[in-house]
Amino acid sequence: MKGVILAGGLATRIRPLTLVTNKHLLPIYNKPMIYYPLEALRDAGIKEVLLTSSPDHSGHFANLLGAGEDFGLKLYYAVQKNPKGGISDAILLAEEFCKNEKVAVVLGDNIFKFNLKSIVEEFDKKEKGSVVFGVKMSSDLNQYGVIELDNQENVVSIVEKPENPKSNIVQTGIYMYDSRVFDFIKQLEPSRRGELEVTDLNNFYLKEGTLSCKVIDWWIDAGTSFDELLRANNLVAEKVKQGEL
Ligand code: G1P
Repeated sequence: MKGVILAGGLATRIRPLTLVTNKHLLPIYNKPMIYYPLEALRDAGIKEVLLTSSPDHSGHFANLLGAGEDFGLKLYYAVQKNPKGGISDAILLAEEFCKNEKVAVVLGDNIFKFNLKSIVEEFDKKEKGSVVFGVKMSSDLNQYGVIELDNQENVVSIVEKPENPKSNIVQTGIYMYDSRVFDFIKQLEPSRRGELEVTDLNNFYLKEGTLSCKVIDWWIDAGTSFDELLRANNLVAEKVKQGEL
């Protein structure tokens, strides 16, 4: 299975921090933000990772991470020319890299501790499908994709930034797909905000009945606001000091 990390975008919500650097290179306590998704994929047993970023910042990642040798994996780079294309548009850059293999995608600003290894191994054995990861959240649900589950933890719906959320479980930026994902992305239409939405992609699998969801205990999208960036720094510092990270 291949890994993909999305590290593009304009990060306008946390300017001026991102005026001359990429959001994913900002510090989260004692490491650059990008280390966290990279280590998560490595710890999941994934050996080859493609990192997508903007034309201005790809070289910065190459300077920092090289060919991935310090992380024990092989790292490749792709340049995303359109920073407003959306998550699904960025995943499409990995089509040749993935060939006919399954893929685990992680957004470059996602900080979490959950070890993906057992889910990767289980998913690798399946013929087809997709896995999304949810987390319980108490506020700002309308800033995320919201996942509705039934009593057996089957996904009933996923709605992007809903006005009236049907649950308190938000969709994280961790996704696993079979090799048909690129064909599905090519069928997507841009959303109202002009992006190829990951939620629309996941709904292809939901309609087909091959989407599953795993709820994890903590997760932060460190790039959404100054407050989330600060919360990620404080939480990681606390967990490092307690020996949990
Ligand atoms: C994206 C996804 C959303 C998901 C979120 C996780 O939102 O569209 O479903 O909950 O990432 O951070 P965006 O950051 O593009 O607004």
